[in-house]
Amino acid sequence: MQNSKPDYYNNLDKTYIKIWDLLEVGLAKRDAPFHIPIFISGNDSNFEGRIIVLRGLDKENKTLSFHSDIRSNKIKFLKSNPKGSFLFYDKEEKVQLRISCNIKIHYQNDKTKKSWKKTSHMSRQCYLGEVAPGLDSSKPSSGLSDEVDNSKYTIEESEVGYKNFCIIEAFILSVEWLYLAAKGHRRAKFFLKNNHVDKKWLIP
Ligand SMILES: Cc1cc2nc3c(=O)[nH]c(=O)nc-3n(C[C@H](O)[C@H](O)[C@H](O)COP(=O)(O)O)c2cc1C
Repeated sequence: MQNSKPDYYNNLDKTYIKIWDLLEVGLAKRDAPFHIPIFISGNDSNFEGRIIVLRGLDKENKTLSFHSDIRSNKIKFLKSNPKGSFLFYDKEEKVQLRISCNIKIHYQNDKTKKSWKKTSHMSRQCYLGEVAPGLDSSKPSSGLSDEVDNSKYTIEESEVGYKNFCIIEAFILSVEWLYLAAKGHRRAKFFLKNNHVDKKWLIP
């Protein structure tokens, strides 16, 4: 546990700034713990969490986003209940974030077009399976053809993957902060409104 107290320890405004700093590092750095949060979604009777790669962040509009396959199970959940929660943990920083959001699925629109163009040859592989992810398979399988498995496809050939590509955009409603410290943990909650943020401390 850290012994010196960071400047945000007893300061809600600085804690809020720290949240966005950590998210920005998570977006930019592949090896940052915040790069691969857990995204949780569900319906009345069933919840599922899964790791995703943080692909977008908009501080002004208070959104986070990631890429996915439109055929995946999470999309079915999100269509019936467009709510989701991200769980982040940074061991070094001793910070856990729980971020609750309203979800919008982007499919075959300007936003997906722009992102697909920037999607690398390697990342496109995920969208080149002919069978939907999560379906039963009679044998062990990546779901990809041998050519695709061995990256033997051109960028032009990978264009067919666009029909499976979507962006999940998450509009942040609230952020719950937990900071672990030997001299006393700190927990806080931030409610993100249109033009302002309500901030309060909680008992850890
Ligand atoms: C390191 C890592 C990164 C992943 N990134 C993504 C991602 O960005 N988007 C995604 O849909 N699935 C991603 N996955 C796979 C999901 O965790 C999950 O297995 C998949 O999306 C199917 O989930 P579902 O059946 O709940 O839809 C990733 C998995 C790992 C281990």
